[in-house]
Amino acid sequence: MNLKAFISDKIDEIKKTAGKEKTISALSGGVDSSACTVLAARALGANLKNIFIDDGLMREKEPESVRGIFKGLGIKVDIIDARDEFFAALEGQIDPEEKRKAFRHTFYSVFGKAVRQSGARFLVQGTIKADILETKGGVKTQHNILEQIGIDPDKGYGFKVIEPLKDLFKDEVRLVAKAVGLPREIHTRMPFPGPGLATRVVGEVTPARVALVRKATVIVEEEIARFKPFQAFAVLLNDQGTGVVGGKRRFGNIIVIRSVESTNALKAEPTNVPWAVLTRMAKRITTEISQVTRVVYELTPKPPATIEYI
Ligand code: XMP
Repeated sequence: MNLKAFISDKIDEIKKTAGKEKTISALSGGVDSSACTVLAARALGANLKNIFIDDGLMREKEPESVRGIFKGLGIKVDIIDARDEFFAALEGQIDPEEKRKAFRHTFYSVFGKAVRQSGARFLVQGTIKADILETKGGVKTQHNILEQIGIDPDKGYGFKVIEPLKDLFKDEVRLVAKAVGLPREIHTRMPFPGPGLATRVVGEVTPARVALVRKATVIVEEEIARFKPFQAFAVLLNDQGTGVVGGKRRFGNIIVIRSVESTNALKAEPTNVPWAVLTRMAKRITTEISQVTRVVYELTPKPPATIEYI
């Protein structure tokens, strides 16, 4: 790929599509939406409004940290607090695909409202090739796929979508992100799914269960980051295991540690994490999060497993 040509072509394309219309960029702080936001900001300047939805499913301190990083690039980001809407939509949902669909509908409804309120016509989003391939191939309904599966966003939600990165894989997106000047912490960042920690909670997604997996995620990221895996995270199972805490029996939660190596997320292998690091994570998770009595390390490649648990 000729990076320079790709970037200037995409900027021209965004300019041509959006024209003088107001446009919104859906920023999550991941590498895909961050690269898209910079391309759109270069193309549209003051006609672009950048929105970060706080869905309550992000990692620790994510909204403030993303806003800070973009402020450093001279790009203003507005945060919409939609935590209640997302938790209400996810209440009682236990089926993985139903959870994704509930997330997707809430995601586009919240954006639809923001788009209408600001008089915008277009939504820029960081869909990439793997998202489309997996959704069309029937692996998972990725939250950011509409047009490709026959849903017209204009009819359903009142805007058109612009997807500048839809022909690229993650490793190519990283090159674009670096070339447009995004800092290292963004262009080398581990992928994080759109539905966030909801994909890492097996069973019902409640604020308390998300808070638990969020705490475990901090520990896993701190301990595994130096090995630079493609993706590493914690998962909360919908099952329990007996533990002894202070000499007493406790029936507590089970956390899975998942760390994988991959280039494009279509295939993945478990990371060869040193034993001492694995046992340290288990110790930290069970001592720092009192509701957890068991920690396991996942060994399954993709295929047959997928990277996320739902
Ligand atoms: P799986 O679990 O399908 O994940 O092996 C492949 C890559 O996609 C991410 N992923 C998602 N990303 N919406 C997203 O934006 C989703 O619903 C979704 N599900 C999985 C996953 O983190 C991995 O990088």
